[in-house]
Amino acid sequence: MNVMHMIQALLLTLLLLGGQVIRVEAENGAAVVLTTAGQAAAPRQPTPTSRPTQTHRQTPTPQPEATPSVDAKLLAAGKAIYLASYCGVCHTLAAAQTTGIFGPSHDHIGHTARQRIADPTYQGAATTASDYLRESIVAPSTYFAPGAMNGRHPMPSYAHLSDADLDALVYFLLQQQ
Ligand code: HEC
Repeated sequence: MNVMHMIQALLLTLLLLGGQVIRVEAENGAAVVLTTAGQAAAPRQPTPTSRPTQTHRQTPTPQPEATPSVDAKLLAAGKAIYLASYCGVCHTLAAAQTTGIFGPSHDHIGHTARQRIADPTYQGAATTASDYLRESIVAPSTYFAPGAMNGRHPMPSYAHLSDADLDALVYFLLQQQ
């Protein structure tokens, strides 16, 4: 070991003990970066470090409440009740793969329900789409929805369903926008 190397080693030790990240010129001229942990990074060109530090900033955090989240469990429960109650014998609903024709279609019924309560001939008590759907199920004679094969197979009341079942059923129908 010659004197130069000894001095270099000494300087290195002092700098490392000082807790600094240092950069020394290796004999071949390439920069060698040493950290306090003593790891030497691969020799590289002395360019300014360009680490992608702003990856977090670039993608704005999506707003979780931007669109109302769907309760998949309640939705599945509602669909199961719809199928088990044979609603599809009279109603068409793509989401339940039913093709009944005696009652109005349930495709977009969540949307249609709002139009029903806006109908001047509607005399029921519902003020929201969800109220209207519930009323249609438990008291179908309140309002005779257009689009049905009138009177041939009237909508029976499903007032015997439990509140929980009705909640799920209404929720499921409400999602059909
Ligand atoms: C025997 C045939 C039949 C069955 C079974 C039946 N419905 Fe109906 N449904 C009708 C008819 C007919 C109408 C239209 C007349 C009326 O509004 O009462 C209707 C209307 C409705 C409406 C109002 C539709 C609108 O466009 O405003 C809803 C909601 C509804 N039914 C839900 C259901 C659900 C949920 C089930 C199962 C639990 C079901 N129906 C079972 C015949 C049926």
